[in-house]
Amino acid sequence: MTTNWWKESVVYQIYPRSFHDSNGDGIGDIKGITEKLDHLEDLGIDVIWLSPVYQSPNDDNGYDISDYRAIMDDFGRMEDFDEMLKEAHKRGIKIMMDLVVNHTSDEHQWFVESRSSKESPYRDYYIWKKGEDGKPPTNWGAAFGGSAWQYDDTTGEYYLHLFSKKQPDLNWENETVRNDIYDMMNFWLDKGVNGFRMDVINFISKDQRYPDGEVNDAGFGDGSPYFMNGPRIHESLQEMNKKVLSQHDTITVGEMPGATVEEAKLYTGEDRHELNMVFHFEHVDVGNGKYGKWTPEQWKLTDLKKIFSRWQEGLEEDGWNSLYWSNHDQPRAISRFGNDSEAYREISGKMLATCLHLLKGTPYIYQGEEIGMTNVAFDSVHDYRDIETLNAYDDYMNGGLLTHDDMMKGIHERSRDNARTPVQWSDDRHGGFTKGKPWIAVNPNYRDINAQQAVSDPESIYHYYKKLIKLRKDNPIIVYGKYELLLKDDEQIYAYTRTWEDQTLLVICNFSEDTPKFELPKEVKFSEKELCIANYDVDIKEDPTTFTLKPYEARAYLLK
Ligand code: NOJ
Repeated sequence: MTTNWWKESVVYQIYPRSFHDSNGDGIGDIKGITEKLDHLEDLGIDVIWLSPVYQSPNDDNGYDISDYRAIMDDFGRMEDFDEMLKEAHKRGIKIMMDLVVNHTSDEHQWFVESRSSKESPYRDYYIWKKGEDGKPPTNWGAAFGGSAWQYDDTTGEYYLHLFSKKQPDLNWENETVRNDIYDMMNFWLDKGVNGFRMDVINFISKDQRYPDGEVNDAGFGDGSPYFMNGPRIHESLQEMNKKVLSQHDTITVGEMPGATVEEAKLYTGEDRHELNMVFHFEHVDVGNGKYGKWTPEQWKLTDLKKIFSRWQEGLEEDGWNSLYWSNHDQPRAISRFGNDSEAYREISGKMLATCLHLLKGTPYIYQGEEIGMTNVAFDSVHDYRDIETLNAYDDYMNGGLLTHDDMMKGIHERSRDNARTPVQWSDDRHGGFTKGKPWIAVNPNYRDINAQQAVSDPESIYHYYKKLIKLRKDNPIIVYGKYELLLKDDEQIYAYTRTWEDQTLLVICNFSEDTPKFELPKEVKFSEKELCIANYDVDIKEDPTTFTLKPYEARAYLLK
């Protein structure tokens, strides 16, 4: 029988390259993960989402896969993977693999064959088209800069790549491609993995008319209306569910840029047989400016509350939410949504955790978040490693759209490498991540911010996360309670209730450095109260009716 255990779980994301290096080559690896499983068991998480560990030339750090059934040399061998899986399961921790099937690497055997000749049986595994008058088939731009089409001399045609030119898009119209993918998924499920996080899975179905898109400042067309949530996406996911997922007891989450609540209902509705939940991008895109994340602007708490509330209410009856502040593509949560100054780093990190973990949905913790890691600000662009960051720097500078200073500001605030500097395990050299030279520099603040320190201090953010995770296990209201927003127009306080049976969970979070006054709306009535968690010392006898909040204060009460 399948259950909804994934609703009651807390997921922890590992980006293996930056997690822990066991052999001193400067790159995190699978044995490094196994060595740290005790840390995760102690934290209390239920599932690990493992970013890609498959064979890859690393144009996009493993999101360009050249062999879906082999482990990347940098990360170890299949034996290491099997051992890690066994050790995780022994500790009651499940493993969710990253499934990257919108595209492969151009070094995948399928693509090597496909590009070799128009007659190749693999030709139709990818999307090949003739150009017109020496121009690509459509005006679409790629996510990592330039055209989304690459001309290939061998056969005189273009192939589609929505990301880098080393990430050609697979042709999901081709049934053999789909079946090969399903076989590969079964290969991993048969090994005992517990589910998949599906990379840009709402991009797999392309509008077969291939129209041009609206042209942006960089001179490329926006193809997204023709591949985001495309015409056959639900049909494909239902087929995948029928042929693969329904045969196993899995956790699934689809990464879905541009997905709305209405679409999420279709992807995650119980009777739809597609996915368990989706990652939407609305809240992580707040404050995007003229050139998106590279020109960040001040965001408003009311906007963030509107977004969360829309998703909470929209999926209340049917479907399920995923909850996250950060991942390997986003800046560090505290720097982005809290305050990473020495005075408020831990307090604001605890506040953000309270706010997120007590919402309805499955919470995701990104590696290092539990010890309060922050963004990094390298002085030189040459210290960055991320293809998106480096290409954007070149494109915006060459195009004369942004100055070096503006671009560096955008990079410091929003580059993906903020999340990719190695996990800071101790105050040893390179934060105890490696005995060698790390592939990307460790954030220099590792002497103060590291796991060893956080684990040994009972008041640390780490112990606060542990407490939040335990609270979820002990209180079904946190999993199943109905959400309601309070104080809708307040620009400093995010307060909400969750109700379930005769209980109400009241959550109050101050997102500012100020000391605003909280007043409990009259509709929320109670005769008994219990303080469940707070990030400052609170007099437990105090009623949560009227009080002044401290900077970044968070409290949660159970009311009856
Ligand atoms: C989303 C992944 O999270 C990101 O890291 C990657 O670059 C793109 N998809 C392309 O696979």
